[in-house]
Amino acid sequence: MNIKNLCIAGATLFLLSCSSSKKENSQEEKIDKLIAQMTLDEKIGQMNQLTGLGLSDDMKNSIREGSVGSILNELDVKTINELQRIAVEESRLHIPLIFARDVIHGFRTIFPIPLGQAASWNPQVAEDGARIAAVEASAVGIRWVFAPMIDISRDPRWGRIAESCGEDPYLTSVMGVAMVKGFQGDSLSNPSSVAACAKHYAGYGFTESGKDYNTTWIPEELLRDVVLPPFEAAAKAGCATFMCSFNDINGVPSSGNRHLNVDILRNEWDYDGVLVSDWGSIEQMVQHGIAADLKDAALLAANAEVDVDMMGFAYVRHLKELIAEGKVSEKIVDEMVRNVLRLKFRLGLFDNPYAKEQESPFYTDDALLKAKNAAIESAVLLKNEKNVLPLKNVKTIAVVGALADAPADQLGTWIFDGEPSHSITPLAVLKKDAGDVKINYVQTLKYSRDKNKGDFAKALAAAKSSDVVLYFAGEEAILSGEAKCRADISLPGAQSDLLTELKKAGKPVVLVVMAGRPLTISKEVAEADAVLYAFHGGTMAGEALADLLFGKAVPSGKLPVTFPRMVGQIPTYYAHKNTGRPAENVQLIDDIPVGAGQFSIGATSYHLDAGDSPLFPFGYGLSYTTFAYSEPRLSATTLQKGGTLTVECDITNTGKVDAAEVAQLYIRDRVASLARPVRELKGFDKIQLKAGETKTVKFTLTDDQLAFWNADNAKRAEAGEFQVWVSADSQSGTAVSFEYK
Ligand code: GLC
Repeated sequence: MNIKNLCIAGATLFLLSCSSSKKENSQEEKIDKLIAQMTLDEKIGQMNQLTGLGLSDDMKNSIREGSVGSILNELDVKTINELQRIAVEESRLHIPLIFARDVIHGFRTIFPIPLGQAASWNPQVAEDGARIAAVEASAVGIRWVFAPMIDISRDPRWGRIAESCGEDPYLTSVMGVAMVKGFQGDSLSNPSSVAACAKHYAGYGFTESGKDYNTTWIPEELLRDVVLPPFEAAAKAGCATFMCSFNDINGVPSSGNRHLNVDILRNEWDYDGVLVSDWGSIEQMVQHGIAADLKDAALLAANAEVDVDMMGFAYVRHLKELIAEGKVSEKIVDEMVRNVLRLKFRLGLFDNPYAKEQESPFYTDDALLKAKNAAIESAVLLKNEKNVLPLKNVKTIAVVGALADAPADQLGTWIFDGEPSHSITPLAVLKKDAGDVKINYVQTLKYSRDKNKGDFAKALAAAKSSDVVLYFAGEEAILSGEAKCRADISLPGAQSDLLTELKKAGKPVVLVVMAGRPLTISKEVAEADAVLYAFHGGTMAGEALADLLFGKAVPSGKLPVTFPRMVGQIPTYYAHKNTGRPAENVQLIDDIPVGAGQFSIGATSYHLDAGDSPLFPFGYGLSYTTFAYSEPRLSATTLQKGGTLTVECDITNTGKVDAAEVAQLYIRDRVASLARPVRELKGFDKIQLKAGETKTVKFTLTDDQLAFWNADNAKRAEAGEFQVWVSADSQSGTAVSFEYK
């Protein structure tokens, strides 16, 4: 998707919103009237979000009194409709409820984890997944989903990198906007549309040491240039809601952060959606040590204009008192209630509050086909020595490993409503489609952390009697996601030892990795003949992998995050600064002569035991064919302020197989008032190329893409030389230069 298409997408969304502006004015008048009738208790009730308690009397009474505005984790459509009926018919002002759920990468039909979807570099994959999730979730009455998660993360120790779109703000912006479009559809009031939620606002992915809920230190430049762009893109795309993050930023938790929530979100971005806390994140400001007690936390959150308190009970217990004491203005509360009511109007809930109790539209052929395609496009081919893949002329295949037939684990993290019984596993497909190929299956390890080597000999024997070994390794789903951080991100259990054992058979070994994060698999990549990184591919992962392994589909994925060689390199990411001593003449620890003098091996920026390069760079991914890139051609050697510069590059499929390639546009600001990254992604285009075919990709650069947040706290592009690449990943390609004047 290049800049032009992104602008068209944004403009279309903008025009759609303009056409509804007249309706919105009358809507605002309706909201005014409603607020004027509301008691303070009823206002505070709209700001209160509770978890599903079924049809308990407590819940029913809370609804009748108007002391709850939204409910999360209620799933039964009849219960949802009955609770809604109570709100609409038995509460004083008949204000409908919103029902919410974490639908992160699918409701019933599960798509690849978002990190995998990002590896497709295809926003249509993300939009399809969100659209299907919206149709399935809204069928049971869910109209608010807590997705997309668009935190930037450069730290694979962090379990929630699985839910993210990786390390780059531009790729995350494109994929996040696509998910918003998919969830919200053409009109939020359409019963099959759901309110999306840009989360976690903000900076959560920079959690110290990759440990969840930890503190973050984010200078304004990093906040503005890296953390916020996906959130600004989501806001501009009309994302209906935002969610606060748990972390403190430089000591101020997001749930009490006026700079984030008022200065930027409301005043700079003119955002009029709902800002909801994370689960208990308002109350957790007591733990953070910036609120003395729950009342103090309510004060901080209200004055930071967090509209809805998710399961924190801070507002319902203390807001009325704070207003009476003059510490919180009721006018501010009215504005926060207005945001909640506006969302309910936009969702059409005042006119159509009930879910149709219908045959649920789960697992349609279209949904399964799109989920399979997503899993195909999300897989990244990292190695393919001697073109072991795609498999051909094989008569016997040894299938080994804990992830070959793991219907729950292949769904990945943050799956509440997916059903493993619907998962198509790799083993199931290999057996189904085997034909006259013999499948020797030896699971060997029962789960990814299994250390029992009791079946190693059996696995080796199967490998010896087969033409090729397919080894499915990785992580159980439970090892990534919220609060699932790992200080050692190697293959768990005895999985690495099993690969070494399988290699003894002397047969080609194809390693297929299903994981929720980049793993440190340097040794395994060296041992395996081919490596296909599938992340957690969802319901249709088995069909997708079988198509890729046998060449019915061609890998086209590219890494959305850098793969470190070892955990000690973290954080390692492509858009790093050059430093005053960039790595050169790298001598690794075992190459250093004994007794070497202090500076005899040079003094530049790298680790003695890891060097200065990652295992695989951002944007990297192989195919079953090869591609050649011409030098980029610029429409001019200068870009004037306010002007545009086009960048063209010819890409040829130099192999024998039709395939897709993701051409990536990077820039570098050579000299600026602040040291700038050695590369920054500013565009990409996923193109189909027949064998031998050449196509020209074209990008348009404007000064907005050259701009960065400078030391004067302003975003602007600075005159000077810029380099441009159009390349297959963040490390390859030829640079050409232009002057920005
Ligand atoms: C969780 C997560 C958030 C989720 C919310 C509701 O703790 O941080 O992403 O949407 O609570 O389940």
